[in-house]
Amino acid sequence: MKNLNNKKILFIICGGISAYKSLETIRLLKKNSAEIKTILTSSAKEFVTPLSVASLSQGKVYSDLFSLENETEMDHISLSRWADVVIVAPTTANTISKLAQGTTDDLASAVILASNKQIYLAPAMNVRMWEHKSTKTNLKKLKDFGYKFIGPEIGDMACGEYGEGKMSEPLKIADELNQFFLNQSQNKKFKALVTAGPTNEYIDPVRFITNKSSGKQGYELAKCLSKKGFDTTLISGPTNLEVEKDIKLIEVETADEMFAATQENLPVDVAIFSAAVSDFKVKNKSQTKIKKEEALNLNLEKNIDILNYISNHNSMRPEIVIGFAAETNEVLKNAEEKLNKKNCDWIIANDVSNKNIGFNSDYNEVVIHYKNKSLKSEVLPYKRKSEISEEIVDRIIDQLN
Ligand code: PMT
Repeated sequence: MKNLNNKKILFIICGGISAYKSLETIRLLKKNSAEIKTILTSSAKEFVTPLSVASLSQGKVYSDLFSLENETEMDHISLSRWADVVIVAPTTANTISKLAQGTTDDLASAVILASNKQIYLAPAMNVRMWEHKSTKTNLKKLKDFGYKFIGPEIGDMACGEYGEGKMSEPLKIADELNQFFLNQSQNKKFKALVTAGPTNEYIDPVRFITNKSSGKQGYELAKCLSKKGFDTTLISGPTNLEVEKDIKLIEVETADEMFAATQENLPVDVAIFSAAVSDFKVKNKSQTKIKKEEALNLNLEKNIDILNYISNHNSMRPEIVIGFAAETNEVLKNAEEKLNKKNCDWIIANDVSNKNIGFNSDYNEVVIHYKNKSLKSEVLPYKRKSEISEEIVDRIIDQLN
């Protein structure tokens, strides 16, 4: 497990009988030269002692949100920034519930909420608790927020029952973390570019033509690429969204600006064109505000097709070029046509006549059309845009590797 070498792991232990396995997990991570800091919730201290955790991790053990000593030495925000990855093992039903609500009533939950790193949860609880509707609803939320799960496993439980809810074994947890760092180091060398949002095409200094794109789909893709280790550039038309600081954000307004920014940020290994670029711009844009008494006839000319230009570039074409197709009718036929006409490797089609998906929704449902694969197309059914993005990025990683 050489990818754990020198990695900073924030290990959070919650109060459950499986906490004893955390000691073995810490020992294993330490043996593979990871640097560990630990947080114990107050109920975790009923199961393992701070002294045993400190001895095994050879690192500081934190537990109190209001400890003057600890907050002066490393406050909870710095603690969440210090880590390369965060693991919560065991994660109890109570912690799952708190994270789903965004409650921060102790150090562990405050650090997790403040973290900008990948967070792994290794749940452990009674099978009925695991299967309870409220836990299932909370889990769905957490997956949507980007938390990753290790386990739980099926088997005999400490309470005497049998079923799903056992915390994964230390070796499995250490293996998953090792794999996370391996993927990160492999993807780190890859560069990604994403276009997102609408463009504004000005009629005069105060009026413009635009569309309903919110940028959500493109921002989720950029977030996911960055989290998985890609060096990510996001070229965005006007949106109300925020980006993580690891992503290089270039804000543009018009299609011409988006085109220039795209060219300036090549070469990349993968480019995803999710922006809803205006197909037309106003030919003779007025330099002054047009008076309402004047008759207004717009003379439009075609914008450059950014995707088409990049995918046909001789020297700068990314290894994988992915376009989106926003269609209202004959979705599959039009998407196939765009795949070929725009020389893409993949076209991701969404039916924007459906009001629940596509433009400005948190959800999407897409069909990926592949050019040079034996699998011609693949449906990613109705899901949050964050989950759709995860699935797209996993397929990109498979293809690049
Ligand atoms: O932003 P959201 O609210 O989250 O909504 C997401 C979305 C619906 C905008 C997104 O999923 C989507 O479908 N984006 C593409 C929208 C679009 O303009 O599709 P199109 O079929 O008109 O264009 C096809 C492809 O060519 C797209 O990849 C587009 O980025 C690209 N294009 C189009 C015109 C142009 N001048 N330059 C381009 O690069």
